[in-house]
Formats: sequence, C-alpha cells, structure tokens
Amino acid sequence: MAFAPADTERTVLYVSNSPDQKLADFLAASGWHAVHTKSTATAERMIERDNIKVGLVELPNDCTSQHLSALASCMRRAETNWVAQIAPGQADNELVSRFILDYCFDFVTRPWLNERLVFALGHAHGLSALRQVHVTPEPSLGRHGMVGQCEAMQQLYRRIDKCGATEAPVFVAGESGTGKELTARAIHERSPRTGRAFVAINCAAIPPSLLQAELFGHERGAFTGALQRKIGRIESAHEGTLFLDEIGDMPHECQAVLLRFLQEGTIERLGGNGPIHVDVRVISATHVDLDKAVEDGRFRADLYHRLCVLRLIEPPLRERGGDIKLLANYALSMYKQDGARKLRGLSSDAIVAMSNYAWPGNVRELINCVRRAVVMSEGRFITASDLGLPETDNWPAVTLAEIRSKAEKDAIEHALQRHGYKLSEAAAELGISRATLYRLMHADRLHQEPSGGRTSSGADGDDEAERRAPSLMSAAPA
Ligand SMILES: Nc1ncnc2c1ncn2[C@@H]1O[C@H](COP(=O)(O)OP(=O)(O)OP(=O)(O)O)[C@@H](O)[C@H]1O
Ligand SMILES: [Mg+2]
Repeated sequence: MAFAPADTERTVLYVSNSPDQKLADFLAASGWHAVHTKSTATAERMIERDNIKVGLVELPNDCTSQHLSALASCMRRAETNWVAQIAPGQADNELVSRFILDYCFDFVTRPWLNERLVFALGHAHGLSALRQVHVTPEPSLGRHGMVGQCEAMQQLYRRIDKCGATEAPVFVAGESGTGKELTARAIHERSPRTGRAFVAINCAAIPPSLLQAELFGHERGAFTGALQRKIGRIESAHEGTLFLDEIGDMPHECQAVLLRFLQEGTIERLGGNGPIHVDVRVISATHVDLDKAVEDGRFRADLYHRLCVLRLIEPPLRERGGDIKLLANYALSMYKQDGARKLRGLSSDAIVAMSNYAWPGNVRELINCVRRAVVMSEGRFITASDLGLPETDNWPAVTLAEIRSKAEKDAIEHALQRHGYKLSEAAAELGISRATLYRLMHADRLHQEPSGGRTSSGADGDDEAERRAPSLMSAAPA
C-alpha cells in the first residue's frame, strides 16, 4: 500500500498483516505519512534508518508468544512510541496485556473511532518530541576508557596522561571498585608501551606458596608437580606493563624477590640457572592503607619507595557528584537488553536514592546494582525501590571520621558551657587533661570564653599535652 507523504515530521510506521486502506486514507487526510510493512525485521531497519518516532501495530487475533516477541524486538527502542490495535477481548489474554503494558504507549480496540486513533498517535508524537528536548546522550567511555566528568576525575585523567609519558613506577591507591585497574590500563595505553602486553596479577588471589612461581616462572622439575617450564607473569610482560594488583597482600618473602627484580631488572625462574633480563614498567595498586602496612612492618619500606615513585588516588564514588548519574546511565545502556521489557531509563527518585547512598563498593557496586534492577524492574523506568538501596533518610554522605570529629567538638562545647569555660573542670568532666583539652579546642577553633571574652593562657605543662589526644568518643565513659 503506498501512502502519499504529507509531513515528514509526522511519519507513522504501520505494522500489520492486513492493512486497512480506509484507515490509511484517514491518516493521510489527518497529516500523517504512513509507511507500511508486514515484516518486523523491515520495521526494525526502518525505525533505525529513518529514526521513526511513532508506530502503529495491529495485533492479529491469534497472536502467539513468538509473534509477540518478534514484534517486541522491533519495538524495544525507547524513542519510538507505539499504539496497538487489538480485537475485543484480546486484552484479557495475559500475554497480550503484558505486551501492551511493556511496549505500547496506548491501544485502541476494534471497532475504534479513527479520530480516537489519530488522537492517540498525535499524543505519542507529542511525547516523543518532548523526550527529544530532554534527551541525554548515552554516556560512553571517554578517551581514558572511563565514564566520569567531575573535577576529581578530570584531575585523574590529567595525571594519567602525565604518568603515561614517563617510565617511572606508579602506585594507584583507592577503595575497592573505584577503577584502579582501569587507571592502570589507561596509563599503559597512553605510554610508548601501548600495543605491547599488559599483564595483570592479583597478588591476593594467588596462594602465597604459588605466588613466587606465578610471578617468576619455573623450570621443569623445579618442584614436585613442575612437569614443564612455565614462563612467569613478569617475563610475559617483557616490553610491556606489569600490573601488580593488591600489592598490599603480597607475602614478605615474595616482597624481597620482587624488590631484587626492581633493583636489578632481572629475574630468575625457580629452578633456573641464571638471571634473565626483563624490561617491564610496573604499576601497582591496593585498596589497603600501604603507609599503615609499612608502619606495622607488614610491607617493606624499601619496596614501598621503589613502587610509589608516582602516586595516583582514585576518588571514591560518593565524592563524584553527577558522575553517579552518568555511570548509572552507562550501566543501564550496557545491560538494558537483559531486561524482559523495554526500559526507558532511571526515574528521578532512583537518581536521588543513588546520590544519597555511600557506595562502599564504589563503581563496581553501582554497575551491579543497576544490572540487577534492570532484571527485577516491573515498569518502564527503574525506580528507587527497584534498586533496593538501604534507606538513608536523605543524610548527606559523611565519613566516620567526620562524625567522630563533630561529636568531639559538640562534647567539648557543651562541657565548656556547663562549667562556665573553666578549662580544668571541663577537662575533668571529659576525662582528659587540661592540656589536651586546650589542644583540642585549638584544633577545633573553639574559643576559651563565650564570644568576645578574654583569651587565657595555654597548656598547663601536663605530659599528656605531648601525646596524641585520645578521641573523646573512646575516652568518654560509657
Ligand atoms: N569510571 C569508570 N567508568 C566505567 N566503568 C568503571 C569506572 N570505574 C570502574 N569501572 C568498572 O567497575 C569495575 C571495577 O573497576 P576496577 O576493577 O578497575 O576497580 P578496582 O579499583 O581495581 O577494584 P578492586 O579494588 O576491587 O580490585 C569494573 O567493571 C570497571 O570496568
Ligand atoms: Mg582491582
């Protein structure tokens, strides 16, 4: 059936096995350019090619689930609004009603008034025009292979570029799931070693007894079970980059051998008989506090200094502001095909819930959360309840240290007020020395008298002033 084009802006794709000529004439007279096809595959191509925003689909009386899923595949695109034509009673069929709810903007039941149908199509057209105004482009991985535009990420990108331009070892710190491995890869990609091997090894995932053999390789017969020669990870990274993940969990004896390799640039396979020169650039990462590990003697200070020549810190997700929404949309675009129905996006309450959540598992947790919600959601939009995030009462995200420090400041202020700003009495009540109280007040910028008052002299020479003050939270009696 050929319909004369009336207005290219108002094109309706008409998918039907038995198109209705009278309806077609009515549509043309109402300013619609109707293009017809029987084939769902052709419909899909036309929608993509011509960017069609409105569809009209006639459901056959004996509609099967195969038929519906063929239709669904061409009706998935969120930008196209569909109106269905159905027979009386057909909506009682659960499959059909679910299909309409999931994929159609509206439906008409035979015998329909053509005016009513044209009204529905006009409405569908108006809605898609509205959506176009607010359309946000699907976030894609930027040139560093990451999603994120906040200031902290911009700074990270600049630092990645700088690290890429040198050969110095880089240490990447950051909480779990913040993207440390992506950062290591981005540095490799921007270095002259791009195109060569990028070899990652997770030091925490390999039993300590096997780690050395895994890193350095072994000769045949080096130990029971070494049936043939094995090239280690360091050697296989020759001329490329070696990424030592979770370096903080590396056992002590392995640290010593790694240090020797970093100093000498040679390795020796277990059971081998001579050093082998290996040229690798080393990037390491861990989610544990490496400074503390050095302090506690769990990590060698000399190895620490070798590895941490350049240092990058991944910002935690809760400090990335609008990037949470960007990343959520990115995750949605990756996984929306996994859902049983056409998803239009994230509802605004979902965005609010995500912005209020602290994301201890960072980007990995966010991606998994959206992925799960895609599968579990029942509507067109992913809502806050689909995400299943714990209630936060809209509290701003704060760290434990911030909570402690605020409680400490409040306790001091109240004690001072209660004792008329007599430092010795307030200190006695708080269970600390006068000198410690003085130092904490100074750190918290608290006045020694109600505002405008005289400033008294400082510490009273108590030894405790020399020590680091215990947190009032832990010093206070229960
Ligand atoms: N900025 C980002 N853009 C897109 N995907 C990201 C981003 N950051 C992290 N991811 C994704 O999140 C997951 C975790 O990232 P990655 O493994 O790099 O984190 P990690 O800091 O090394 O985590 P862990 O400490 O658990 O080893 C990966 O699937 C990664 O692709
Ligand atoms: Mg990692």
